[in-house]
Amino acid sequence: MFRTHTCGELRLSDINKTVTLSGWVQRVRDKGSLLWIDLRDRYGITQIFLEEGMSAPELLKAARELGREFVIRIEGTVVERESKNPNLPTGEVEVRPSKIELLNASKTPPFTIEEKSDGGDELRMKYRYLDLRRNPLKNNLILRHKLAIETRAYLDRQGFLEIETPYLIKSTPEGARDFVVPSRMNPNEFYALPQSPQTFKQILMVAGYDRYFQIVRCFRDEDLRADRQPEFTQIDCEMAFVTQEEVLNTFEGMARHLFREVKGLEIGDFERMDYATAMKLYGSDKPDLRFGMAFEELNDLAQGHGFKVFDDAELIVGIKAEGCSEYTRKQLDALTDFVKRPQVGAKGLVYVKLNADGSIKSSVDKFYSTEILQSWAERFEAKPGDLLLILSGDANATRKQLNELRLEMGNQLGLRDSKVFKPLWVTDFPLLEWDEDTQRFYAMHHPFTSPKPEDISLLDTNPGEVRANAYDMVINGVEIGGGSIRIHDRELQRKMFTILGFTDEEAQKQFGFLMNAFEYGAPPHGGIALGFDRLTAMFAGLDSIRDVIAFPKNNSGRDMMIDSPSTIADAQLEELYLQLKKAED
Ligand code: AMO
Repeated sequence: MFRTHTCGELRLSDINKTVTLSGWVQRVRDKGSLLWIDLRDRYGITQIFLEEGMSAPELLKAARELGREFVIRIEGTVVERESKNPNLPTGEVEVRPSKIELLNASKTPPFTIEEKSDGGDELRMKYRYLDLRRNPLKNNLILRHKLAIETRAYLDRQGFLEIETPYLIKSTPEGARDFVVPSRMNPNEFYALPQSPQTFKQILMVAGYDRYFQIVRCFRDEDLRADRQPEFTQIDCEMAFVTQEEVLNTFEGMARHLFREVKGLEIGDFERMDYATAMKLYGSDKPDLRFGMAFEELNDLAQGHGFKVFDDAELIVGIKAEGCSEYTRKQLDALTDFVKRPQVGAKGLVYVKLNADGSIKSSVDKFYSTEILQSWAERFEAKPGDLLLILSGDANATRKQLNELRLEMGNQLGLRDSKVFKPLWVTDFPLLEWDEDTQRFYAMHHPFTSPKPEDISLLDTNPGEVRANAYDMVINGVEIGGGSIRIHDRELQRKMFTILGFTDEEAQKQFGFLMNAFEYGAPPHGGIALGFDRLTAMFAGLDSIRDVIAFPKNNSGRDMMIDSPSTIADAQLEELYLQLKKAED
């Protein structure tokens, strides 16, 4: 037998028991006559204790030959520890071994396998199996498992069926590039890996499976960021015969269930905000509502006083940083540098300090009287001690810049606590987005999203103004999920494709299967997909989804452990009718 107990299991109540444990040597402490081994497995750490005189000399010898990460099996007796470790669940006991068996030796690991490792990112990804032995990663994977189990439990209870859809499909347009797979049996033809199961889940609605879900891998060939991986997992869902309200309630219910069961937290009702309001008040379609600092606009109070920058601006807009009037020159310069960074792109920053003594100091007092600055303060409902930070310029760009500044101030002031959760539905997204480069409209969500019925007439006259029955689930400024009520009418779908620049022929070639299905009784339907990696990272209090994925890719889309992507043999290429082109440097 390899073990009677795990390394996380023994307690005072087990004293005097004879036990067998197997695990990895976390470390050996050798104090001459006394020697301790920390034995680790997935469940915890148990201390093994040997003492000259008490333990057989061959055991001490064997123990002294152990190195980090050796795999051993020990037999011994559980005894009460003299000096207890309150930080360890097994910290009141230790095991006096009667036998130590080496199951496998280990090379010295290239980094320390402790709570905090000394290994760099790339090294830890190369030796992912070692990194995964560390508690933080292990706990993330356990959390991910619990979330998956509770997701299934909730959706099952709501009558959803988990149905698998294929991975070898043809392109589904979700706005990213496809990963493609050449077909050996069909020369010069390719599958695409799904960016999402979008069209399949809609087909399932036509097939009558009115509540579908799947915890499913999706593939998108796009630039990577902390919250993006080329393959990631969605909780993908679709429902037939539902209104938008019912979809929102179902998935708000799911989020509440997950927070309650997995975190023991009641997160309360979600706030709701339409897209236009989110952009106006926060300059973002995913505002972080853990803190206020909503935007206030100042055009009417700030233009016409000779300050050319403001006079020429389409929008003058600012935020109030409470209690920050004592910011030093240096701090204000740092904020100015922050907004001027190319990633933010503002030209400058105007401040107004409402000093504690009631006086007002501003970077633009040359142009504005105290009364006028006072009127700005009133707009912000600012008090003495507050600081106003103001940007100006093109409306859309300025709002985005101020969003960055708002988030930065939230960070600086400690207002973005990872233990606080503020969920929100953002609704009424625009249906279409105009792209200057290609001079055409793109679907903001995807081409199957339905316009709001009251806006359909605008499709012909002013497509850019049409709002969609589309919604995002946002928590703490992170887009956790998105969905929509779909088009289920063939003609409207055809019209959408036309607006998106498809000829009837192209639409038929790419999406004929869906439009044909719509001719056989498509029910009204809608759904959502939540980013499962993002959700798990949020629960873990992490910004990056990498650490909640067992085997993630690095920033260049490489798997460092298996060293992929990689070249393939000439014979394989030939079989697939592929020819290599020399990569340009
Ligand atoms: P969408 O494209 O908004 O919608 O994707 C849904 C959610 O998936 C997550 N996500 C990602 N997570 C990690 N890495 C990525 N590269 C990545 N891309 C997206 C996000 C996002 O909110 N078919 C529609 C859903 C629907 O309409 O029902 C879709 O895929 O959390």
